[in-house]
Amino acid sequence: MSIHSSAGYIKSFKYLHTPGSTSYSNLLQSAHQNPRWLNSSSLKPRFIVTPYSADEVRVAIICSRKHNLQIRVKSGGHDYEGLSYLSKTPFVMIDLINLRSISVNLEEETAWVQSGATLGELYYGIAQKSRVHGFPAGLCPSVGVGGHFSGGGFGTLVRNHGLAADNVIDAYFMDANGDILDRESMGEDLFWAIRGGGGGSFGIVIAWKIKLVRVPPVVTVFTIHKKLDQEGIKLVHKWQHVAHKLPEDLFIRVVIQHLDGTSEAMNKTVEVLFNSLFLGPVKELIPLMRKSFPELGLLEEDCTQTSWIKSALYFAGFETGDKLEVLLDRTVQYKSNFKAKTDFAENPIPESAFQGIRDPLLQEQSAFVIMDPFGGKMEKIPESELPFPHRKGNLLNIQYLVKWSEDGDAEAKKHVDWIKMLYKYMKPYVSRSPRAAYINYRDLDIGMNRRANTSYSEAVIWGRKYFKGNFRRLAGVKMRADPGNFFRHEQSIPLLS
Ligand code: FDA
Repeated sequence: MSIHSSAGYIKSFKYLHTPGSTSYSNLLQSAHQNPRWLNSSSLKPRFIVTPYSADEVRVAIICSRKHNLQIRVKSGGHDYEGLSYLSKTPFVMIDLINLRSISVNLEEETAWVQSGATLGELYYGIAQKSRVHGFPAGLCPSVGVGGHFSGGGFGTLVRNHGLAADNVIDAYFMDANGDILDRESMGEDLFWAIRGGGGGSFGIVIAWKIKLVRVPPVVTVFTIHKKLDQEGIKLVHKWQHVAHKLPEDLFIRVVIQHLDGTSEAMNKTVEVLFNSLFLGPVKELIPLMRKSFPELGLLEEDCTQTSWIKSALYFAGFETGDKLEVLLDRTVQYKSNFKAKTDFAENPIPESAFQGIRDPLLQEQSAFVIMDPFGGKMEKIPESELPFPHRKGNLLNIQYLVKWSEDGDAEAKKHVDWIKMLYKYMKPYVSRSPRAAYINYRDLDIGMNRRANTSYSEAVIWGRKYFKGNFRRLAGVKMRADPGNFFRHEQSIPLLS
């Protein structure tokens, strides 16, 4: 069968989209969660396939292999380097948008969720069935389950329940032969690898079985705004000493940000936000804060009592009074060009380092340093339990993020150079040997596969940063699961050679 006759074959099922069709350009446009590459010279997919069933995923895999086309699989399209919709070699994009069912089993306290669902759809689906169950995954509702779970995934429940991937108990997975495997038939090694080894390396996860976690009917949220002045820096410094040791029910993250505003004063202000979820009522939170972090001066009136599902809205930037249906909106809020980089801190960062980031942040219109505390459950899970190794001894994850609205490569370069400068500046204060990074905040600057058959020893440069000692095991799994290296991209796991 030629590529065109196979295209004709699957076209009759209305899930094949060819260049030139309106559905193709709409799908491609909405896939680009980072619009930075929309008009770039990168190759566009030969076809976009939007399967409704695992059988249709199989057809797409088999046809692509037969015609020597690569595959890029997209769930939510939030990959920081666009690897789910960009490629330098001819490719087919499989967009899982039609595979997003969610089925909650309250008796078992589990759910099956298909990869094309977003976190918002998952949280909404759980909330439709229960007020006292939730799931520990990321903050942004438009993030796709497929990529997020494949790379670990953490959010406000990370301190008491670990990563999203820590709470996956089974999966339906399709390999390069189009065979569908579950946990039992794929074996524990591959099941280990797909829960944190990064998307796009082993095959396509169609659906995940997850363990729901219990949440109380009443939770409390707050955000305290300060300036990054002497007082603000002292607070951030103190926060670093306490945030990872607090009771697991209390998550306080710090966002240092500069956003150009309407007033001159705002343009010159770098803000610090202490942004928190407490799994309990405000009357329990206040004494706890008075004891462990009195310097923040938290008052009852700074807090809002709400439900866990409404806290998901709050952390996504909605009002707690908004309708839950906002979680079903698959478009990213405030979509703009961006570049991010990531670090882990094993020791508190000195006050002088925070003083030194103030001026650089003021140079950008929209720049962030987001710090998420670990500790709690993350300390108790061994480094080799899943591919994500950043457990005991990591006080916090840091994400540097810059956004811009202007188009064009020259503009992009300016902002990317800026974030590289900030990353270089932070080097003395963060983890080293390796300087660790989080696969879900993908960063091709730390190294990439330059050839289709990049060796393990070449890839180890970036692989150890994401996976430390687990990288070798991942490469071994890859050798057994996908020996032909069909599923590959710029940072896919290489074969162990
Ligand atoms: P996308 O579809 O782009 O997939 C990412 C990678 O996984 C690609 O390589 C893709 O090919 C592969 N893939 C996708 N589906 C697959 C499948 N079914 N089987 C196999 N491979 C698959 N992270 C976090 O931990 N906590 C957070 O709070 C946030 N918040 C956040 C906000 C915003 C605005 C962005 C852009 C990103 C985040 N992230 C995050 C990072 C996020 O977890 C990460 O980008 C995920 O990989 C995104 O998953 P998607 O399915 O959306 O991406």
